[in-house]
Amino acid sequence: MKLTITRPDDWHLHLRDGDMLKGILPETTRDFGRAIIMPNLVPPVVTGVQATAYRGRIQAALPKGSRFTPLMTLYLTNTTNADDVAAAHAFGQITAVKLYPAGATTNSDSGVTDIEKVMPVLEKMAEIGLPLCVHGEVTYPSVDIFDREAVFIERVLAPLRTRLPALKIIMEHVTTEDGVDYVNSAKNTAATLTTHHLIINRNHLLVGGIKPHYYCLPIAKREAHRLALVNAATSGNPKFFLGTDSAPHSDPAKESACGCAGVFSATNTMSCLAHVFENAGALDKLEAFTSLNGPAFYGLPPNADKITLTKQTTPVPYPAKIETGAGPVTVFDPGFPLYWHVA
Ligand code: DOR
Ligand code: ZN
Repeated sequence: MKLTITRPDDWHLHLRDGDMLKGILPETTRDFGRAIIMPNLVPPVVTGVQATAYRGRIQAALPKGSRFTPLMTLYLTNTTNADDVAAAHAFGQITAVKLYPAGATTNSDSGVTDIEKVMPVLEKMAEIGLPLCVHGEVTYPSVDIFDREAVFIERVLAPLRTRLPALKIIMEHVTTEDGVDYVNSAKNTAATLTTHHLIINRNHLLVGGIKPHYYCLPIAKREAHRLALVNAATSGNPKFFLGTDSAPHSDPAKESACGCAGVFSATNTMSCLAHVFENAGALDKLEAFTSLNGPAFYGLPPNADKITLTKQTTPVPYPAKIETGAGPVTVFDPGFPLYWHVA
């Protein structure tokens, strides 16, 4: 069996920097044409000049002959200046701006503590048509980690949506049925879905021993939520598209008493997704999810070239780890054999 589709893009990707970047970049560029590059470096990417320098380091690390295009983002802070953001957009330095609530996840200490502080920037973005990518979780200690997405929608996202109807919002890595329902109901709002949240629920993370390589943020939820995500992804609805949130950490950083959040799925994402879509009887919707809906929402053309997925009768081998100059990085294990691969 063969399936030829427009080359996919990854609308949410962590590439890091230095030796880690060099080690893991080929895992994305093999299959993907473009990716939205997350700005949560240490220190974060907060200016257009920094975004351009980071793009240069990514381009320098590309495998020979690669035509991969990194789409850069700025990390929104309490002190981000609206005119600076508009200038970075006008100079073609950035494709989107990322909102991390302070403390929500890896390297989010410089994130936004109160949405009021960034309203002038968000108003400017709405005016100039620059999309906002949102890590949609509240960080109040009193809110349970499994409820943080739903509470964010109610307290932060829905009020912001009403206040700035013209702002294009991407709710990143939606993990709940609440998130799917909200995105379906809200104008000018889309969502990315990760590969791993389509495959694992919280039992996979916790039952039979804690699995650090399944720990990510937002944390995987119960099975009913995973099923809602699969429905959304395989529906063909243009509001939903792929953002892997592939987020490498070295094995020692994951397999630790205080392990980092992040699942590294760049290597086998297309194999995993073909499996999920085939199981849902929706292989014909895979192209919309991975290759068409994202560019349409961002106002970009789809990639001009194609990839072919082939289903073989024996399991596809893929490396358990990617060895990088910054240490080994474990590849996402979906928990079942994969038969599809990109030819
Ligand atoms: O699991 C995650 N890892 N979630 C995020 O939001 C950040 C990411 C990272 O940078 O490692
Ligand atoms: Zn992320």
